[in-house]
Amino acid sequence: MLSYRFAQINVVATLFLLFVGATVHPTGSSLECPDWWFFPTCNGEVFPEMKGGVLFEHGHRLTGTVVGILILAHTILLWFRRRQDPGNFKLGLVASVLVAIQGTLGGITVHLKLPPVVSILHLATAMGLFSLLIYLADRLRPPRPQPKSPTEVPRSLRRWVGIAVCAVFAQIVLGAVVRHLGAALQCVDIPLCGGKVWPEGGLAQVHMLHRFGAVLAGGVVLGVAIATLWRARGMPRVLAGAILLVLAAQVTLGIYSVVTFLSVPVVVAHLVVGAILLGLMLSLYLALGRRSAAPRAAEAAKPWPSTEAAAPT
Ligand code: HEM
Ligand code: HEM
Repeated sequence: MLSYRFAQINVVATLFLLFVGATVHPTGSSLECPDWWFFPTCNGEVFPEMKGGVLFEHGHRLTGTVVGILILAHTILLWFRRRQDPGNFKLGLVASVLVAIQGTLGGITVHLKLPPVVSILHLATAMGLFSLLIYLADRLRPPRPQPKSPTEVPRSLRRWVGIAVCAVFAQIVLGAVVRHLGAALQCVDIPLCGGKVWPEGGLAQVHMLHRFGAVLAGGVVLGVAIATLWRARGMPRVLAGAILLVLAAQVTLGIYSVVTFLSVPVVVAHLVVGAILLGLMLSLYLALGRRSAAPRAAEAAKPWPSTEAAAPT
């Protein structure tokens, strides 16, 4: 139980870190602290005066350091149980390595003065880490009594939820491409771009790809959420309801990012709500796995028919 609670805390702390990270670029604070050598300093100080851009950039480094320590501490806890539970210890190790890579990418992006490819990778790794921590928390979740008659959910639905998880991840990375290539304001009319479905300029096309991606990923998410509401009960149903609300919020925030010419609170919220959507989709995938496993586990637990009963009399 302690390990499960720790894993839950790490998920929430990482979401908070994503929020703090999301403020760095839109507030123009990315190069506010030009030094980073695997230690959270800003212009040589660990605790500089936290004002202006330093608040966002150094606040992000300090939060990143705390999250890194939390993930490492959890891995140490899992190490004590490595013989009974080697799988989760290995996952903890992967999370620790990933958070170290993420910090290094953050440092590289500062040293190289924000090359888009590193900034995009920094966001993709952040979402990968967030997803891994959700998966780890799910594996550490203590078993709960299954309902007497669990609903049978078709396997194909779970497969489609898996596809939707990948589509949302890809859409988030596409969002990072839009942001870091500076394509966000290449199209300021909605739904078209300069009156065209497929504009001429490369950057405008990148922007439109993110909008097409929203239609595609949003369509798959909508479809699986409605199907889950229709077919499942209990936790998957609650998750599907939440997903519908979060998807609507995310698309609205995307449109508002454009119409407000990248208002800081709106673009920060667009990233955080994107992460929440990814987290909810992954949780639905995992919850449906538990559901479809339940009838099979019940079947497996049934006693074998005794040989006497089967023997001819
Ligand atoms: C340890 C875990 C970390 C996580 C999960 C994380 C997460 C994030 C996220 C989600 C963003 C927003 C990305 C975007 O706007 O596309 C971001 C931005 C940023 N992070 Fe991190 N970060 C971490 C560590 C660090 C560290 C240690 C540094 C610096 C030494 C750093 C430097 C930056 C910078 C400079 C940006 C702005 C990038 C840009 O403007 O292109 N990050 N981070
Ligand atoms: C499922 C739907 C969507 C998801 C998951 C999504 C995700 C994201 C994410 C995570 C980012 C931030 C990337 C970063 O900070 O590096 C982003 C950026 C962006 N998105 Fe979306 N998005 C969606 C729909 C939309 C829609 C419908 C629009 C507009 C019509 C839109 C317009 C934008 C713009 C303009 C940016 C760049 C913001 C900036 O430069 O700060 N998005 N998207």
